[in-house]
Amino acid sequence: MSLKIDPAFIQPAEHRPKPTISGAGTIPLIDLSPLLHHQIPSDSSDPAIPNEISSLIAAIGAACRDWGFFQVINHGVDPQLLERIQKAVVEFFALPAEEKRKVKRDEVNPLGYYDSENTKNVRDWKEVLDLVNREYDDGLLVLKNRWPEYPPAMRKTCEEYISVVEKLSYKLVELISLSLNLPAKRLNGFFKDSSSYFRLNYYNPCPMPDLVMGVGRHKDSGALTVLYQDQVGGLDVKRKSDGEWVRVKPTSNSYIINVGDVIEVWTNQRYESVEHRASVNSEKARLSIPFFFLPTFSTNVKPLEELVSDENPAKYEEYNWREFVSSRLGSNFKKMDKENIQI
Ligand code: SIN
Ligand code: FE2
Repeated sequence: MSLKIDPAFIQPAEHRPKPTISGAGTIPLIDLSPLLHHQIPSDSSDPAIPNEISSLIAAIGAACRDWGFFQVINHGVDPQLLERIQKAVVEFFALPAEEKRKVKRDEVNPLGYYDSENTKNVRDWKEVLDLVNREYDDGLLVLKNRWPEYPPAMRKTCEEYISVVEKLSYKLVELISLSLNLPAKRLNGFFKDSSSYFRLNYYNPCPMPDLVMGVGRHKDSGALTVLYQDQVGGLDVKRKSDGEWVRVKPTSNSYIINVGDVIEVWTNQRYESVEHRASVNSEKARLSIPFFFLPTFSTNVKPLEELVSDENPAKYEEYNWREFVSSRLGSNFKKMDKENIQI
């Protein structure tokens, strides 16, 4: 067989995207519309909690426990804002390579554009623009946004989008806290001036979609991911019950939420971070926009004291989020290809 693509993209046989299960048996779909009429209660023991809200908290708890993933609808984000950001993303990635490279990331500041990254030593079939929520520079770690000149609406749209999605992320974290019988705001302090960032992913059509991945299998290392995907589809989640890969069917105006490693540690494994991957196809480009809701850099991540006991001792060692991010960026940069090969 003659390869039409760089062999660096070819997945080992056991990790190629086999046919996936879709439709029934995929991640839970949760309707957030009760939040349009009710406040999030401060405590789950409050006797005045409306039934709709109690059911919502229970559904989120079950989804985090059984799947680590769920999809939400009626989340309150304006569909027109979603349209606007998608349009900006498509316009940006359609620019000539030399234009996109004007905002390319580098060893000093890892934010910006790139088209070359490995997951588990295999190259991902994607182009990316990473943008941080709040810029950061402590002399050693530098995170500064590189805003493209085109499309002109990019910066304003992204800034508007990120603040809306951050608000949604707080609500989800509050519901997750309540589902653990903790006060709603138990985790909020960890996100003050948080290191959150968001990523614009663009997956070009691929001539050999059965051999490559847009993003190879991985778990998210942050607290919570709030992902928007377009209608093309390609996100596969590893089902906890049997280890099968299931394809998340695109639902318009929805978000896909998943628990990352930080929540796994905080909950002492009550809620686990689950493997997922992005497949590509030969016909259509696909875009996805994950928002990574991350702790403040100074956070020491460890199991919450309320969730450990003599019978259930801490399963994780404490680690510092700032140190973790620097070491990870270091290893990613070492893995980055020297040549910027255009896909
Ligand atoms: C990712 O998990 O990094 C990307 C997922 C997606 O594009 O759907
Ligand atoms: Fe991910």
